[in-house]
Amino acid sequence: MPLTSEKSVQEILGSYNDKAPLAEAATIAGPFYVDPRIAELETQNVFSKTWQVIGRTDQVEEPGDFLTFNLAGEPIVAVRGADGVLRAFYNVCRHHAAAVVSEPCGHAQVLHCPYHGWNYGHDGSLKGMPEFDGVKNFERSANGLVPVRAAIWEKFVMVNLDPEGESLEEFLGGIKKRVAPLGVNRLNYAGSRSYDLACNWKVFVDNYLDGGYHVPHLHKGLNSVLDYKSYTIENEDRYCLQSSPMVESQEDAATGATRKGDRAYYFWQYPNFMINCYEGYMDTNLVIPLDVDHCRVVFDFYFADVTSEAALKYNEESIAVSERVQDEDLGICEAVQRGLKSRAYGAGRLSVRREAGEHLFHRLLVADLKGTSRYAVAAD
Ligand code: FES
Ligand SMILES: [Fe+2]
Repeated sequence: MPLTSEKSVQEILGSYNDKAPLAEAATIAGPFYVDPRIAELETQNVFSKTWQVIGRTDQVEEPGDFLTFNLAGEPIVAVRGADGVLRAFYNVCRHHAAAVVSEPCGHAQVLHCPYHGWNYGHDGSLKGMPEFDGVKNFERSANGLVPVRAAIWEKFVMVNLDPEGESLEEFLGGIKKRVAPLGVNRLNYAGSRSYDLACNWKVFVDNYLDGGYHVPHLHKGLNSVLDYKSYTIENEDRYCLQSSPMVESQEDAATGATRKGDRAYYFWQYPNFMINCYEGYMDTNLVIPLDVDHCRVVFDFYFADVTSEAALKYNEESIAVSERVQDEDLGICEAVQRGLKSRAYGAGRLSVRREAGEHLFHRLLVADLKGTSRYAVAAD
């Protein structure tokens, strides 16, 4: 049995002092990253109650376009209606619970369950059931797909499993006005990369939110295009914006050629979504927990030009630079996960200069795990 099982969940949650200012704060302790009971609590209190990205708007542009996603153990389908409205539903047939839509994305006139052939409309209504004559006390109108709240932000399809929770606008808060001027809607989707990591999802998020602390040590190529000393970190609502002026790289041609502009913008939106922007470039990172010590990180890449031959070559090179950075992060995240399990580790202190983002993340997370108001957490 792991050492952590000796502690109750309440003791683990209580071990975090959410009142400590950054200069006195510590990280959440090891058990937060290795105890399956915490992972289960996150499924219920974090991933089932926050707005979550489940796909891209370019996947569901036309009526009948759909995409599917597994969110917090729940199969979800989002589909564009003839009225132009994007709706989401539990992808669970009301007959005997089969997945009505089995492809990751596509186009369909009706949502047709492969098991016994029940059909649902794009609005989720049950349209037809073969061989169902004579069934008594069955209300077709009460047997449509069960809806899930859905909304769109920039190029992202988002849902919230909590029917009671706040609107997407309220959830996003100030990040909307910060992302809008970057004009990411003008960029075009070019491809994805998916990485499975042997670490808790929060290890990846922490690594992202260390304010560039690890960049000079771990990412020499990336470091050569950033003005590391001028790196800024801003917390507001549920987001952290890390930003750095860009400089000409003397050392790394590939990074210098594909990471351009005046500033690099790295947005994190609680709990698990990141948007990284350079000039004419965006990638997003969605961090999906698989179990307590595994996660999947999906990178989606967007570029200004995705058609000309020169652009395709450039975009490939740019994705290759991202893959190299990701490889550098992957090894360290897995080493951290092993360390978090060690009896030698408790919790760690935070750099005031660099690690305000992690501080915000940990306070928001613990507030959600405790079920206390998210509004109680003030940004630094
Ligand atoms: S489970 Fe869908 S039709 Fe039977
Ligand atoms: Fe990194």
